[in-house]
Amino acid sequence: MSSASDARLTAAFVGFAAATRRRAPLYSRISAGIAESPLVAELFREAPQVARVPANLFAAVHDRLLADRSARLADFYPNLVADPDPGDPVPEFLAFCAAHAADIGRSLANRVPQTNEIGRSALLLAGFGRLEPGPKAHLDIGASAGLNLMLDRLAYRDGNGWELGRSEVVLECSVRGGEPDRPGLAAGLPVIGARLGLDANPIDIADAAALRWLEACVWPDQADRFHRLEAAIELRRSAPVEVVQGDAVDDLAAALGRLAGGGVPVVTTSWVLCYLPAERQAAWVAELARLGSAADLDWIWAEAPDQVGILPVPESLAGSVHTVLGVSSWRDGVRTDRALALCHPHGYWLSWV
Ligand SMILES: C[S@@+](CC[C@H](N)C(=O)[O-])C[C@H]1O[C@@H](n2cnc3c(N)ncnc32)[C@H](O)[C@@H]1O
Repeated sequence: MSSASDARLTAAFVGFAAATRRRAPLYSRISAGIAESPLVAELFREAPQVARVPANLFAAVHDRLLADRSARLADFYPNLVADPDPGDPVPEFLAFCAAHAADIGRSLANRVPQTNEIGRSALLLAGFGRLEPGPKAHLDIGASAGLNLMLDRLAYRDGNGWELGRSEVVLECSVRGGEPDRPGLAAGLPVIGARLGLDANPIDIADAAALRWLEACVWPDQADRFHRLEAAIELRRSAPVEVVQGDAVDDLAAALGRLAGGGVPVVTTSWVLCYLPAERQAAWVAELARLGSAADLDWIWAEAPDQVGILPVPESLAGSVHTVLGVSSWRDGVRTDRALALCHPHGYWLSWV
């Protein structure tokens, strides 16, 4: 790899340190301290361009650390110890990298960060809450490990007295605005008559290494996010949820066909359509419209308009970098679109529009 490539890597770590200073101070400090490290450049030596990002190194190291939580580096991680060491984490981070260089290099060459954000269930719940009552057949596209297919088995709080559900997995989502007679996210949990996930690269719940990678990709400074993901994975082990491999557009009709009889089909996408190039996003909407013209259908979306140009958002939200929650419905072949809320990308707050 050229020195120009190493310089780009250094710049990426410097930029990452600046961008994360407030919300991820541990990674920010480490990133600043290792930006010019020859060891870091060496670890990335076999990594393809798409994998040469700081978050990938942090995930690879976190993954090793989750496999051996007794390592001294764990003392600096707020998600792994109750009282993290406030000292300089950089020497310990580099020592850990040197000790696990082969594993970390292999991870960088073969993986990119992957997520399944359980907090988005709060957003999807808010979407379900705006649909007519009655059983739903839930198809989650880009379902990853299928965590958001358990949204009727979670508990929700808005931090302001509103609560819904009983579960080991409790999602806190503060709710702004809305109507006084409709507090919180939804009046009740949806009745799910059938459920299925579809993903280009599903995560097998029996694959311990893949699940650990999901956890490793959460930043340690977001300890609550890490712990609720752990709890959701635990719940998922006993949940009757299936995620099949397939493409969002090409395999949509067949996946919906498998849910026949479960209720009105509700298709959900959360931070998925941004992975589709523009022409595939257009194909996605065309396929939904084709299916919606033949049978009633709802699509709940939680996506960012700046990355998903086909979202039916009002002009004021077009190009927004924020996550926008909305519902598109087909009834008797007629389509209606509703933008419902601006949201935190991980579901920590929702502001009705
Ligand atoms: C950022 S993750 C979001 C996962 C989940 N929806 C959530 O909110 O946590 C994006 C997911 O979309 C999947 N994906 C990307 N392109 C896809 C496609 N063409 N068809 C189906 N799934 C796709 C990826 O494999 C990944 O699991």
